[in-house]
Amino acid sequence: MKRRDWLQKSLLSSSSILVSPYLLQALNSKDEFDEILRLHWNENPFGPSKKVIQAVQAAVPDANLYWDEKNEELRSKLAKNHYLKPDQYLMTSGSTEILSLLGQHVGLQKGEIIMGDQSFPTIGIFGSRCGAKITKVAMKGNHLDLDAMLAAINDETKLVFICNPNNPTSTEISKEKLEEFCKEVSQNVLICVDEAYIEFSELGAEGSLVSLVNELPNIVIARTFSKAYGLAGFRLGYAISQSHNINALQRRYPALGMAPGLLPFVAGIAAVKDQGFVTEVVRKTNEGKSIMYDAFDKWEVNYASSSTNFLYVEKDKFVIDVRPKLADDNIWITQWPSMKNHLRISIGRPEWMETLVTKLEPLRV
Ligand SMILES: Cc1ncc(COP(=O)(O)O)c(C=O)c1O
Repeated sequence: MKRRDWLQKSLLSSSSILVSPYLLQALNSKDEFDEILRLHWNENPFGPSKKVIQAVQAAVPDANLYWDEKNEELRSKLAKNHYLKPDQYLMTSGSTEILSLLGQHVGLQKGEIIMGDQSFPTIGIFGSRCGAKITKVAMKGNHLDLDAMLAAINDETKLVFICNPNNPTSTEISKEKLEEFCKEVSQNVLICVDEAYIEFSELGAEGSLVSLVNELPNIVIARTFSKAYGLAGFRLGYAISQSHNINALQRRYPALGMAPGLLPFVAGIAAVKDQGFVTEVVRKTNEGKSIMYDAFDKWEVNYASSSTNFLYVEKDKFVIDVRPKLADDNIWITQWPSMKNHLRISIGRPEWMETLVTKLEPLRV
């Protein structure tokens, strides 16, 4: 059975997921799933690196064992790079799990989470499912409004969520401003800084707030291997914090040090050693961004200057059904329900972006 047929069959037979008509249409009209330009989930079109693939292939025969030593090895490597200790890390199946754990942590206390009203929703979704109150603070243009977020903190607030750089708006707040903000937040309130896209930011990984972790007892950083490292399918993420917070999260984490598993850990260890790959990914991503910036400037389309591997673009210069029309051409982009006048477009390979420009051109109004 072809991969497309299998996918279609399993999607149709699943009653628990909402099947996108664009997905089915794309699967119907193309022979190979790979021909779809996946510009909808901010995946890395260049990864995993060759070194990661080799390391994982070599490790497959060892997959009969639990191998939690690999968890320790990866935490030690990360800790060494950040001048921290291994017990300041919790490794999980993607940073989604960190955000879910934090959301639950606040929800079970019936506390409040403060976040931007255009920001990554996972922590709010899990928080509210567990009983947290979610307060969304209006954006200042395409940026998180730190002053307004600070002013919103009250006695009920248990956590402030800062996604930096921010998804979906693609903008970043400078390290200095964010450090200042974190120091002003009461130490009774947790600050979760989601750095999923930090490698694409102005300072790269140097812009991380990891440098504040030993100074502030209330900061938890969420990081992922899904983006710049190109390991989304391996599901590998982690939290960095002081050990009392890591222990609290660990107590709620069902996997007890066994997750994510041998192959994700091996992939992560090889990826951390291969920083040249990340540099190349960022360079190629910038190339793709320039292609889109040039087209948008020519067409007078407004967009946010991106510190990520995606673009946040105003849609009023395009036909109203620009997204389904692109899907007809097997190009997938994103518009969350909360994004009233914007599209989010991931940066793929430069040649994909050239194709996108060609397909977008006739969809202008
Ligand atoms: C801002 C942000 N945080 C976290 C995640 C979750 O990533 P993962 O669970 O793959 O580590 C994503 C995924 O798109 C994201 O955009």
